[in-house]
Amino acid sequence: MKPIQVGLLGMGVVGTGTFNVLQRNQEEIKRRAGRGIEITMVADLDMARAQSLVGAGVQVVNDARAVIANPDIDIVIELIGGYGIARTLVLEAIAAGKHVVTANKALLAVHGTEIFAAASAKGVMVAFEAAVAGGIPIIKALREGLTANSIQWIAGIINGTTNFILSEMRDKGLDFGVVLKQAQALGYAEADPTFDIEGVDAAHKATIMSAIAFGIPVQFDKAYVEGITKLGAADIKYAEQLGYRIKLLGITKRTPAGIELRVHPSLVPTKRLIANVEGAMNAVMVQADAVGTTLYYGKGAGAEPTASAVIADLVDITRLHTADPAQRVPHLAFQPNAMSDLHVLPMSEVVTSYYLRLRVADETGVLAKVTGILAEAGISIDAVLQREADEVGGEGSTQTDLIILTHDCVEAKMNAAIALMQAQPTVLEPITRIRKEELA
Ligand code: HSE
Repeated sequence: MKPIQVGLLGMGVVGTGTFNVLQRNQEEIKRRAGRGIEITMVADLDMARAQSLVGAGVQVVNDARAVIANPDIDIVIELIGGYGIARTLVLEAIAAGKHVVTANKALLAVHGTEIFAAASAKGVMVAFEAAVAGGIPIIKALREGLTANSIQWIAGIINGTTNFILSEMRDKGLDFGVVLKQAQALGYAEADPTFDIEGVDAAHKATIMSAIAFGIPVQFDKAYVEGITKLGAADIKYAEQLGYRIKLLGITKRTPAGIELRVHPSLVPTKRLIANVEGAMNAVMVQADAVGTTLYYGKGAGAEPTASAVIADLVDITRLHTADPAQRVPHLAFQPNAMSDLHVLPMSEVVTSYYLRLRVADETGVLAKVTGILAEAGISIDAVLQREADEVGGEGSTQTDLIILTHDCVEAKMNAAIALMQAQPTVLEPITRIRKEELA
């Protein structure tokens, strides 16, 4: 049978990795897919560079629409990124009857409902393994491997840039700004790292996992998103002393009140495997009723790890494109007519536990006042750590850090308690609040 023909939009790092891995492993991939898979057309604005990467046998154009219009192309890989032209091209490819493979988490987290509906109406597949945690086959695991389960929660380190920064901050005792500059110099962080460090990239991925885990629509606009820019080396150090590491987690959880969908720095017990995922690596922990806890670990970015996921999608489509669309795995794991309308909880209704750091005047009664506010609010304290003033502010210092770990409480209650504590004249700086996840 003649190979299935693939058109590639965007010959960047992942596009190049995909082309190379497909070539290198073509024989094995063909034995698995039952048919050869060939990238026969590439669209990239830098045509000369793209042509030099793919060789003379592949047609290179600078117009993505020429790929979509080519009747010989069965599958379009979208590796352009972003919500703009990528959305238009993906919808046009679907309208032209092409199956689509994309690594574009932003696009799916924001426009997934529209894109999956268009694909279902046209009877084509949109595959997106590479959109979440790069080379880790987490979409496959959630959508197929865990299909027997009622999934209870997912917690993932799903942004390598921020995990690299947090690891460096902990290892070297450095503050965020210093490590960010180093990460940029080493190529671990983009020149504009906003999406990574503000938690947006992780929230895109958490949104997609949430939809697949619970059969709800993709709803990025409902996600709570907080990045790592306000973390200091001191918090990482104090957390360590209390037996925790700070990780940027993407969390989605089923609760009786609704679905939690949130990205924020979290204290995680050092004894959990996921707390020991360091550097730019990713890991996703899934709690499900039948299987219990499972953990998926690997590279979340990079040319060939991401290519691994893109090509897995190409193989799936090659195997399934002649099947009755009703027999294929649904885009979001659940049949489109069986989606749930469970609502996503606002952050104020989320229940979790907390790490609080208060810079306070080292005076009589300050600790009693603060703990009194928490007691009054019905918030139970789990642990308190107070450093010597000299250790915090240098010899003769009259200030100190008060670190409090709480038991679970609803976020709205904690917000109110923090406002009351902050209003105390003996609380000298904005209170640091970091959520804590036991992941038990
Ligand atoms: N910028 C992402 C990360 C990789 O740092 O993990 C692509 O999502």
